[in-house]
Amino acid sequence: MPAIEKLGAATRDKPLFSPDNVTVIFVLGGPGAGKGTQCANLVKDYGFKHLSAGDLLREEQDRPGSEFGELIKTDIREGRIVPMEVTIQLLENAMKATMDREGKTMFLIDGFPRKLDQAHAFERSVVPSKFTLFLDADEEVMQARLINRGKTSGRADDNIESIKKRFKTFVDTSMPVVKEFEGQGRVVKVDAVQPPEKVYEDVQAKLKEWGLNPQIVQVEQEQSYAAAA
Ligand code: C5P
Ligand code: MG
Repeated sequence: MPAIEKLGAATRDKPLFSPDNVTVIFVLGGPGAGKGTQCANLVKDYGFKHLSAGDLLREEQDRPGSEFGELIKTDIREGRIVPMEVTIQLLENAMKATMDREGKTMFLIDGFPRKLDQAHAFERSVVPSKFTLFLDADEEVMQARLINRGKTSGRADDNIESIKKRFKTFVDTSMPVVKEFEGQGRVVKVDAVQPPEKVYEDVQAKLKEWGLNPQIVQVEQEQSYAAAA
């Protein structure tokens, strides 16, 4: 994935892409809600491109010479939100690279926007989202999943101290994003306490209500890429 050369994506006052050509679905939910798992299912069956904000941040953190490495590392360990300029630039770069290399124009953006400023800046300067898939789970369930994942994930934030901080950030900072989109009728909520297969059944049923099913996504992608090219 291309490195950040300069920041600027978040300051543009017109969206870079039109929602007629580029589809973005945000995937939100607390840490351990199952965002990555459900995105992997959707990629397989629908052909979306999955971009995880957390994965892009971890990649930038580990990139030799990155000017943002230390900042990202500290924020992730403390469960804080990395400044939106960095995250939005990483997402924009990844979207452009995906369109150029893979011709894909339908994106699942996982773990973003985690704060209202990110939501507003992305929709103003990159592209307005279609809707947000919100995976709703309670902390007890999410904590058990994260502790389990921590045995093999190697993630610096899958430990009990960081998990508690991440839960607090989610409630204080990220839930207001879900609430705002909900008020605009742009949230699709799924009960994510259920086993992953059951969650996915519900996700598919909801996507269908929004006119998205496996074949259509692939076909629309080819058409909108042809239109954008
Ligand atoms: O989504 P994930 O659990 O991989 O995110 C890990 C961490 O990355 C978050 O706890 C947060 O510190 C950072 N992050 C962020 N802004 C985002 C997504 C992730 O600051 N939009
Ligand atoms: Mg994840």
